[in-house]
Amino acid sequence: MKSSGKRLVSVLEGQAGAPPPVWLMRQAGRYLPEYRELRAKAGSFWTMCNDPVMATEISLQPIRRFGFDAAIIFSDILTVPFALGRTVKFEENVGPTLDAVTSAEGLERDPAIWQQKLSPAYETLRLVRPKLPAETSLLGFAGAPWTLATYMAAGRGGDEQKAAKLWGYRDPKSFGTLLDVLGDCVAAHLIAQIEAGADAVQIFDSWASGLPADVFQRWVVAPTKRIVEKVRAVKPHAKIIGFPRATTLQGYEFYADETGVDGISVDTSAPQDWMSEIDVPVQGNLDPLLLVTGGSAMDRAVDELVDAMRGRPFIFNLGHGVLQETPPEHVAALVARVRK
Ligand code: CP3
Repeated sequence: MKSSGKRLVSVLEGQAGAPPPVWLMRQAGRYLPEYRELRAKAGSFWTMCNDPVMATEISLQPIRRFGFDAAIIFSDILTVPFALGRTVKFEENVGPTLDAVTSAEGLERDPAIWQQKLSPAYETLRLVRPKLPAETSLLGFAGAPWTLATYMAAGRGGDEQKAAKLWGYRDPKSFGTLLDVLGDCVAAHLIAQIEAGADAVQIFDSWASGLPADVFQRWVVAPTKRIVEKVRAVKPHAKIIGFPRATTLQGYEFYADETGVDGISVDTSAPQDWMSEIDVPVQGNLDPLLLVTGGSAMDRAVDELVDAMRGRPFIFNLGHGVLQETPPEHVAALVARVRK
């Protein structure tokens, strides 16, 4: 296959970049004054996600300011539950709330409806694409079935995934159906994003930690493998990054081997000696709080990570998203440090 010439894509093809390409999860968002200003006008996060013109502007804000190697479209993982017919709300200081589901029945299964409800993301990709520098990669994304199921089962985040786990343990069959429907929708969503111009896509499994090993295989690895296969059946050269956040080192390796993703994004706890030895392109993993800290503590950590990963296929990123209290100057300093 002809290489796109984009630095992030070539890392996912197994080549080391010097310096490594850099972008940050949640690089668009509340730590940027220009984002806050737009949000005050728009009224809500969800309105902005579903307005391609605003979402385009927000996707481009961090590119203009910092010149990252990749732009990620401004959207949310909860667009997929919305496409399946759920009600999704984002309340100030509460985070997302959904109408909780307890059965796999009643979920929207018509791909034409999914497509229509997810269309703002495709339009955003089409609008962002021509506005990016030629060497900047464009990223699409989706939540993984397990993480989406945790929000759908509980109606919100952050309860240690109890509702989804209990559903999965009590009724594996209907929980499996839920994961399958989610997987079908996520695969269709990723394919449509690639068609709309994404150079690569990332699958966020934010709640992959703490699962018993056999359950990790069934609820995280198998559904992701199924998605990768569905995407590759239509887009054989699709570039896919998987982020089974905060799983074990064995979990990351098993996930990478089994799912066939092109790269794995790893959380802050992954050690550099392990990252520099595994057999798959890696993205990560500076602690977001070091980016809040800035100064020499951040510089030292950036240098160590870049040094440890020299000569390896590596994408510089955080171990999780940019925090709201991050000073934008620290982000500029980080990008300069990675590239120095
Ligand atoms: O990375 C990017 O810049 C692209 C946009 C993006 C957002 N959410 C925008 C957003 C991406 C890739 C996501 C993914 C996402 N959304 C995840 C997976 C990554 C992760 O953080 O683990 C999850 C779990 C969600 C669900 C979600 N969306 C939550 C739990 C919240 C509330 C928490 C918070 O930070 O407020 C959101 C809201 C959200 N998604 C914001 C942004 C910029 C904040 C919106 C605002 O208040 O303006």
